[in-house]
Amino acid sequence: MQNLSAKTVVVIGGTSGIGLALVKAAAEMGATVYAAGRTQKNLDNARAQCPAEVNFRLADTHDEASLSALFAEVGEIDHLVSAATGADRTIAPFMQQTEQQFAAAFQKFWGYTHVVRTGEPHVKADGSITLVSGSPARKYKVGMSSLSCTGGAVEAFVRALSIEIAPKRINAVSPGLIDTAMWDAFGDEKQQKLAQMTAHIPLQRAGKAEEVANGIIFAMTTNYATGTVIDVEGGALLS
Ligand SMILES: NC(=O)c1ccc[n+]([C@@H]2O[C@H](COP(=O)([O-])OP(=O)(O)OC[C@H]3O[C@@H](n4cnc5c(N)ncnc54)[C@H](OP(=O)(O)O)[C@@H]3O)[C@@H](O)[C@H]2O)c1
Repeated sequence: MQNLSAKTVVVIGGTSGIGLALVKAAAEMGATVYAAGRTQKNLDNARAQCPAEVNFRLADTHDEASLSALFAEVGEIDHLVSAATGADRTIAPFMQQTEQQFAAAFQKFWGYTHVVRTGEPHVKADGSITLVSGSPARKYKVGMSSLSCTGGAVEAFVRALSIEIAPKRINAVSPGLIDTAMWDAFGDEKQQKLAQMTAHIPLQRAGKAEEVANGIIFAMTTNYATGTVIDVEGGALLS
């Protein structure tokens, strides 16, 4: 197990799913962890699952003042991660979407730019930033154009920033279909739908949030990795 003692880790979108799995893993590895999300409900739910030492705060990727207040409180950061969803997505062919629907998916990207703009000055020279993109960035399916373009923007942002903020590092982790609250809208059919949607990929199952968190730990702790994308997608890109 990696040792993150004496490291400060901040996870925006750390109150559910992939971010929460990372918060738990980083705390177990000895880090001082700050986790943020928008809603008190998710925050209380996450707090109940974590060691008392984890610091939970309300912050929104679309509210720079809330991010600045969080970063001012934390001070110096070793590893900054954003796993926030932060957008309403419309799954439909581009020509059947309104401009507003298509543009709304990009709120995730704008949120990430706010996290980096406000958080980067707090990241130590030997520290890292990790953003979560998604396999649609390089796996194209009918109806998913807004997700593909948003994920592609996140991955281009990481490459562009890596040459500007060096020696600080910035990477993306790109999940495939992962069993998190993001799919709760399926209700009672969730597990059946996730199984159907992943039956054709090499690993033939949805991923676990912990498996993506492991990829984020790799990006955080691999000191020679920057401007790169780590895929954790069960082989979905090949299917
Ligand atoms: N699950 C998948 O299949 C999958 C696939 C590809 C990519 N991803 C990406 O992986 C990342 C994590 O998703 P997940 O599956 O872990 O989703 P999740 O379980 O819904 O967790 C999302 C987290 O982000 C927080 N959040 C949402 N909007 C926010 C905002 N504007 N500011 C701050 N926090 C915000 C949520 O808390 P609040 O709602 O309380 O703010 C929650 O903590 C996302 O970027 C998602 O696009 C997921």
